Amino acid sequence: MTIKPPDYISNIKPYVPGKPIEELERELGIRNSVKLASNENPVGPSPMALQAIIDSLTYLVSTNSLNRYPDGSGYYIKKALSEKLSVREEEIILGNGSNELIDLVIRTFIQLGDEAVMAHPSFIVYPMSVQATGGKPIQIPLRNYTHDLDAMAKGVTQNTKMLFVANPNNPTGTINKREEFDRLMNRIPDGVLVVVDEAYYEYITDAEYADSIKHFRAGRDILILRTFSKIYGLAGIRIGYGIAREDIIVEINKLRPPFNTNSLAQIAAVYALKDESHVKYSREINEQGKRYLYKELDSFGMNYVPTEANFIYLPLGENSNVLYNELLRHGVIVRPVGPQEIRVTIGLPEENKRFIEALKKVKGKK
Ligand SMILES: Cc1ncc(COP(=O)(O)O)c(C=O)c1O
Repeated sequence: MTIKPPDYISNIKPYVPGKPIEELERELGIRNSVKLASNENPVGPSPMALQAIIDSLTYLVSTNSLNRYPDGSGYYIKKALSEKLSVREEEIILGNGSNELIDLVIRTFIQLGDEAVMAHPSFIVYPMSVQATGGKPIQIPLRNYTHDLDAMAKGVTQNTKMLFVANPNNPTGTINKREEFDRLMNRIPDGVLVVVDEAYYEYITDAEYADSIKHFRAGRDILILRTFSKIYGLAGIRIGYGIAREDIIVEINKLRPPFNTNSLAQIAAVYALKDESHVKYSREINEQGKRYLYKELDSFGMNYVPTEANFIYLPLGENSNVLYNELLRHGVIVRPVGPQEIRVTIGLPEENKRFIEALKKVKGKK
């Protein structure tokens, strides 16, 4: 007899992350490719955050203190977040990316047979993590590429412990607005935790975007997740955070590995948060890229879903893997996110141009 995991583990389809650029270039024998596959900020991190990493590392090395564990409480970054968001430090939890927090909150509240309601397609990690606890993901189809919050509210049963709203949604880039979100919150009973994943929060320009913090302040069962991986450009160093009532944070903290965020990530995040002009600049670059891509996609009649995030969803009406591989041969890496859908991250102007040129070549060939 060999060791076997429970069925609910062996049935999980593993998450396939976008490959590192170097690996793809090696495999395909190409160079100078552009990676528009993982919704990173193409501008990179704030220079202030970079300097903080360098200074902090220099300090840790010169004082011979890299052998010491980081501050498990994340004192400075929690203080900075608390001041910026007017939330108490006890209402904040730090994660090794927000991905870790998704996993932790699920493990904290979901047990065998419990249900978690979520949209489909949405961030692929939700159903995987729910399944990994023996819970049951209840996937509600999108409506007009957007979370159908009314249908999701109807999906809540006595067995439901959690409901996920990715706002904006990955992979479609659509948002849920204030009114419909308030309506959802009015319909969700106490005892069901609403997890609002706002990974792309800082990219939003729509004034009607849902106000999740209001429901947190009203004392509801809600957890808001944000990250330094997207507009703050720190995906490689892994840090994200959650906001919820103190009693909810206390419970999730019981499962949090004590040193889950490292010293460099914590200090980088403090300085990233200070540099508001970098966030503004990154948002502007994204808006410019968006306008350029819309114009070009319109010019050859390609279908796309208008986005509030830093990526665009393209329902192709044809096999997405074929297009993905053809673009790859032209050195442009996008992400197939469904049988007939690809998602492209909005890049720097020259990267967007490379994508459009490659698309034109591929389309022209047919
Ligand atoms: C909707 C959403 N949530 C969470 C994450 C995880 O981000 P991280 O773990 O880097 O904070 C991502 C990353 O792509 C995402 O798209």
